[in-house]
Amino acid sequence: MPLPKAELHLHIEGTLEPELAFELATRNGVELPYADTEELRAAYRFSDLQSFLDLYYALMTVLRTEDDFAELTDAYLARAAAQGVRHAEIFFDPQAHTSRGVELDTVVAGLVRALERAEERHGVSAQLIMCFLRDESAESAMATLEAAKPHLAHIAGVGLDSAEVGHPPEKFREVYEAAGRLGLRKVAHAGEEGPPEYIRSALDVLGVERIDHGLRAMEDPSLVARLVRERMPLTLCPLSNVRLRTIDVLKNHPLPRMLEAGLMATVNSDDPAYFGGYADDNFLAVREALGLEDEQLRLLARNSFLASFLEHDEERRSRYLAEVDAYDFAG
Ligand code: ADE
Ligand code: ZN
Repeated sequence: MPLPKAELHLHIEGTLEPELAFELATRNGVELPYADTEELRAAYRFSDLQSFLDLYYALMTVLRTEDDFAELTDAYLARAAAQGVRHAEIFFDPQAHTSRGVELDTVVAGLVRALERAEERHGVSAQLIMCFLRDESAESAMATLEAAKPHLAHIAGVGLDSAEVGHPPEKFREVYEAAGRLGLRKVAHAGEEGPPEYIRSALDVLGVERIDHGLRAMEDPSLVARLVRERMPLTLCPLSNVRLRTIDVLKNHPLPRMLEAGLMATVNSDDPAYFGGYADDNFLAVREALGLEDEQLRLLARNSFLASFLEHDEERRSRYLAEVDAYDFAG
């Protein structure tokens, strides 16, 4: 039985496995520029974030109907549950769908349909985090927030993703202020490819409550000290970092140094269909490559529940934490 954990950094569009992509392409009459799943998988060799994003946006064009989004999400939840995920806070990218004519209502309805059955089908609690594409304009992000107003009962928070360098958090100050006024929680990708200053401005300008990735914080000791002092959660994605070449090989990942520094690290899968593994695959990979001890893995799992947006259900959080505490690594 895998270690119980929360997944806090997961793009639902990044869970689109080649088999489902081809099935949906056929169903929706979308032509993919690959002969079969094998040829598609062979294209999963990335040189950086942008080279991945190009394929990620191209492949998600097969997602068109409410059923497609529900099926995608249900398939993720089944996989996640098998890997010990008890709670998932799931990112989605509205602009990547609305820009090609798929209505926000369609996307949200499909996601919500799967989430409403998540507990009974998979034993997983789940929430949605709506991400703005940072390489699109602030006006487009604001319009997306506006369009999401009828759906806010189903959206826990906002995030910021896509191409980081050249798109600093400052660009989205007003959008995050507006999201805050709507009672939404706030996270943002920062310090994946972008510099430590982007992490500082995500905190200071956007007022985020978690940093997604935050890998490059390690270049700035005073920032590390601040993140430790504020117990700011970092949602690390080790297999993603290797596949997108922000880290050369997993054994050089700074996770052990981050834990030693006292950072509140969590381990997540980012875009598991593309990066070679779901939540527990990431845990197993860091255990193997970095020689993490059982109690360090337990700490990472504890952190995931402590950093999750479960304030509305502290009883549930306590139950999950008790499960982590009772977990027997030898069993
Ligand atoms: N969108 C999907 N995955 C992402 C990542 N790792 N970084 C930024 N944007 C993304
Ligand atoms: Zn991400």
